[in-house]
Amino acid sequence: MTTREDAAAAVAALSFAEAEAEIAALSARMREADTAYYQQDAPIISDADFDSLRLRVEAIIARFPELERDDSPTKKVGAAPSQGFRKVRHAVPMLSLGNAFSAEDVTDFVDRIRRFLGLNADATVAFVAEPKIDGLSCALTYEKGELTLAATRGDGEEGEDVTANARQVGDIPNKLQGSDWPDIVEIRGEIYMERAAFAAMNAKREAAGLPLFANPRNAAAGSLRQLDARITAERPVRFFAYTWGRHSEKLGDTQTAVRQQFAKWGLPLNQPTANVGDAEGLIAFYNAIQGKRPDLPFDIDGVVYKVDRLDLQDRLGFVSRAPRWAIAHKFPAEQARTTVEKIEIQVGRTGALTPVARLTPVTVGGVVVSNATLHNEDEIRRKDIRVGDTVVIQRAGDVIPQVVSVALEKRPADSAPYVFPDKCPICGSNAVRDEGEVVRRCTGGLICAAQATERLRHFVSRGAFDIEGMGDENIKLFYEGGLIKSPADIFRLKEHEDEVKRLVVQRREQQSVARQAAKAEAGKVAKATKKAPPEFKDVANLLAAIDSRRNVGLDRFIYGLGMRHVGETTGRLLARSYGTLDHFIEEMEKAAHRETHAWAELLSIDGIGTVVAEAITDFFGEEHNRAVIDALKAAGVDPQPLERQETDSPVAGKTVVFTGSLETMTRPEAKARAESLGAKVAGSVSKKTDFVVAGEDSGSKLKAARELGVTVLTEAEWLELIQA
Ligand code: IVH
Repeated sequence: MTTREDAAAAVAALSFAEAEAEIAALSARMREADTAYYQQDAPIISDADFDSLRLRVEAIIARFPELERDDSPTKKVGAAPSQGFRKVRHAVPMLSLGNAFSAEDVTDFVDRIRRFLGLNADATVAFVAEPKIDGLSCALTYEKGELTLAATRGDGEEGEDVTANARQVGDIPNKLQGSDWPDIVEIRGEIYMERAAFAAMNAKREAAGLPLFANPRNAAAGSLRQLDARITAERPVRFFAYTWGRHSEKLGDTQTAVRQQFAKWGLPLNQPTANVGDAEGLIAFYNAIQGKRPDLPFDIDGVVYKVDRLDLQDRLGFVSRAPRWAIAHKFPAEQARTTVEKIEIQVGRTGALTPVARLTPVTVGGVVVSNATLHNEDEIRRKDIRVGDTVVIQRAGDVIPQVVSVALEKRPADSAPYVFPDKCPICGSNAVRDEGEVVRRCTGGLICAAQATERLRHFVSRGAFDIEGMGDENIKLFYEGGLIKSPADIFRLKEHEDEVKRLVVQRREQQSVARQAAKAEAGKVAKATKKAPPEFKDVANLLAAIDSRRNVGLDRFIYGLGMRHVGETTGRLLARSYGTLDHFIEEMEKAAHRETHAWAELLSIDGIGTVVAEAITDFFGEEHNRAVIDALKAAGVDPQPLERQETDSPVAGKTVVFTGSLETMTRPEAKARAESLGAKVAGSVSKKTDFVVAGEDSGSKLKAARELGVTVLTEAEWLELIQA
C-alpha cells in the first residue's frame, strides 16, 4: 500500500501546472468512483486503489495548498472505506437464503419440508415469520458475556474484523445482560439504518457538500466499514439479532426460545414476528406486513420464514449455500420508466454475445440504474425492444435490472427493429447460434481479444485466484502489450518486470498527454516542466500479490479455469470430491469415456448433472485447455487440497447405499445427512461401496451387497455409527 510518506516524496518534483492538471484528473476519477460506490452500489475501483488516489491528491494539496477546492473529494469524510480490516474466517459459514416470489413458491417450500421430514397429513410444522431488512449481516462473538469479535459476512467463509466499529453501535451491547450465557456464543443479525435517520443524515451531508448515500443499506455498510471508528460512532447505525453461529452450549429448543434468550441478554430483535403452522399462515403474515410497510421505521425487502423447532432445522440441514428450513419471501420488484439510448453487445469469456441496454439514468428502489441486461437476441425480438424506446425496467434485490416491457405508445415514428449482429463486435469473426441454443457465440476462440481478456479477468477474480491489483485496466494493458495471453503468463510477469514498467510508464504518459490536450482545448497553455523519476510501487505490489497466490485452494483453481457451468459451488464440490489437481485431471480424462467408473462417479456427486459433467469432460478433451493447466503448473502454480469437512466422522470419505424403507428418516434426509458428514451416497452397489444401509423390504441391492461382501448395516446400526 502507498503510504503518506511515499505519496509526498512522489509529488516533490511536480510543477504547479502538472499538479493542477493531475488534481483535475484525479478528482474526476474519485468523483466517478464515489458515484459508483454511493449511488449505484457498484464500485468501479478497489478500496485500495481509491485510497491511493486519495493519498496522491492529499500529497499534491499539501505541496500546493492553493489547489484545494471546496468540492475536492479529499474533503469528504464518508469516502469509500480503506483496506486494512483484518480478515476473519467464520467458524460456521454465513450462508444465504433461498427466495420465494409467489404464494406458490411458499406452498412448495412448506410441502418440500413436509416431504423431507416424511410427515403425515395431520402433523403440522411450526414456523416463525420475521421481517427481512436489507442491511448487511454481522456476526458478534461473545466470550464469557463480553463482545470479543464483530465480523462482516464477506464471502460467507471469510469476513472482515469490524469489532472497533461495532463497539460504537448503541444496539450492540459490549457485555451481555444477565449471567446465563454460554462461554462462547456468536450472535448474528443485521446492521441497518432507519429511514428517517438515513434521510436526516443525507440532508446534513448535502448541506455540507458531501456525496449522498443512495439508500439506507449503502449508508449502513459505508458507516460500518470505516477505518476510523469515530465516524461509525457519529452515524445512526442500528442492529438486530435473528440467528447465531458458533455456540458452546445449546441455546434453546426453538427459534422463538432463542430469540427470547437474545432479548434477555439485551439484544434488539427484528419485529413484528408471527408463529404460524402452515403456508396460509405465512402468506397471511406476508400480506399483513406488506400493508404495514409504510409505517415501519425501516425499509424491508421481504419476509423470512423459518422452521421453529431446532431439532427439525438440524434434520433439514442445508442444500448448497442455503438452509432447507428457511426461505426469504421477497416483495415485488420496484419498477421505473426510462429510455433506451443504445444497445451494446458485450462478449463474454465463452464467446457469448450479450446485449446490454444503455439507459437514461433513472432511480429504481433507491439506486440509479443506467444499464439493463437484454439477455439474448430472442428476448429482444420477443419484447421488440428498440433504440429510442421508452421502457419499463425493474430491479429486485441484487439482481441486474431488467426490461419488463416497452411503452409502445411512446415509440418514435422513425424507430426500426434492432438487428442483432452476426459478427463479433470485437474480433469480427462470425457469431453463430448452435441448434437449440439461445446464445449467439463468437467463433474467434483464442484470437478474440474479448474472450481472452474476459477469461483472464475471470481467472484473477475474487472467487478464483483473487489477485489484488490485477484490475481490468492492467489486464487490458498487459494483454495488448503482449505480456499475458493465457493465465500462466500472469505468473511469469515477474520475468518481464522491465517490460511491465515500460507499459505502465507508457500508460501514465498517455494519460498525462490526454490531460494536457484537455487543458489545451480549454485554452490553457501548459508549461514544459521537468519530469519526476518514475516510481513503481504499484508494480512491486502487483508482482508480490501474484506471487502470493500460487498456492490457492483447489476449488479456486478449478473455478478459475472458467469451464462452462462450473461456478464457485461446483468448483468446491469437485475440489472436495477429488482432493488433488492431479487426481482430478486423471479422473476427468478417464471420464471422457462414458462407460467408465470415473464418469459414473462424477455424475454421482450431488449437485452435478449430465450437462455440467459433459462440460467438464469436454473441457479436458481439448488439448489447449490441458496446455493451460500444464503451463500453470510449470509456472509454479500448485493448488492446495481443501481441508476435509468433519474428518472425524467414521463415514467421511466412505461410499454408502441406502435401500429399502427407512423408519426414522426419509431417503433425501438420509442422503443429505450422510453427505454432510463427508460420505458419498451412491444409487447402486459395487465393489467400491463401503456400506449398504438396509431398511425394510430391501431387495436386489441387499442381495448384491451380500454377493460382493459389502458391509450391510441396519438403520439402527447406521444411526449408531454416525452417532445420530
Ligand atoms: S436468517 C442461514 N433472518 O438476508 C441464513 N436473515 O438473503 C440465516 N436477513 O444473509 C439468515 N433479515 O443478511 C435471516 N430475519 C432474517 C433476516 C435475514 C435479513 C439477511 C441476512 C442473510 C440474507 C439472505
